[in-house]
Amino acid sequence: MRNDVEKVLIDEAVIGRRLDTLAERIEADFPGETLVVIVLLKGAMVFASDLLRRVERKLEIECLNVASYHGGMESSGKVDFLDRHFPEVNGRHVLLLDDILDTGRTLHAVSERLLEEGAKAVRTAVLLAKEKARAAHVEADYVGFEIGDEFVVGYGLDYQGKYRNLPYVGVLKEEAI
Ligand code: IMP
Ligand code: MG
Repeated sequence: MRNDVEKVLIDEAVIGRRLDTLAERIEADFPGETLVVIVLLKGAMVFASDLLRRVERKLEIECLNVASYHGGMESSGKVDFLDRHFPEVNGRHVLLLDDILDTGRTLHAVSERLLEEGAKAVRTAVLLAKEKARAAHVEADYVGFEIGDEFVVGYGLDYQGKYRNLPYVGVLKEEAI
């Protein structure tokens, strides 16, 4: 697996230190609220598990399965909700977690849905944000790292379902794609 990686973009220790800062900001920004955290599967699960264990605040964790990439490298432009049940968010403060902000369609579609379901407020956190124009008007409230517009894997992010378990964020060699 590691042989397929061209370069490490953000290593484990750097990610960990950044998560300390994000967790502190999240704690300070939601005083006294019991938060509902919505984790977008599967990409955000590694980010969520490392980030949320640093947050000292009562919270509930819910997961949502949405599909936008369908395993390839191009955004399909459409966001599908794959779960039968939607988490109960009516009147609640919600923190939405995703792995990466790319076109913005996923965060936009899910934020809208959460508000439709009655969420009091929705804030968003992403590990990575690509520096590019977004198709949907959305920016995240908490961003781990800004990266260039290139395809990355690791720390939850996949290429065709693989490489999510790399402990760092990296770029694949051309021959691995
Ligand atoms: P958006 O809706 O275009 O912002 O796309 C967000 C989703 O696309 C993320 O949750 C990822 O699953 C996927 N994605 C976007 N860029 C990358 C990448 O560089 N590597 C792996 N997945 C990506
Ligand atoms: Mg994904």
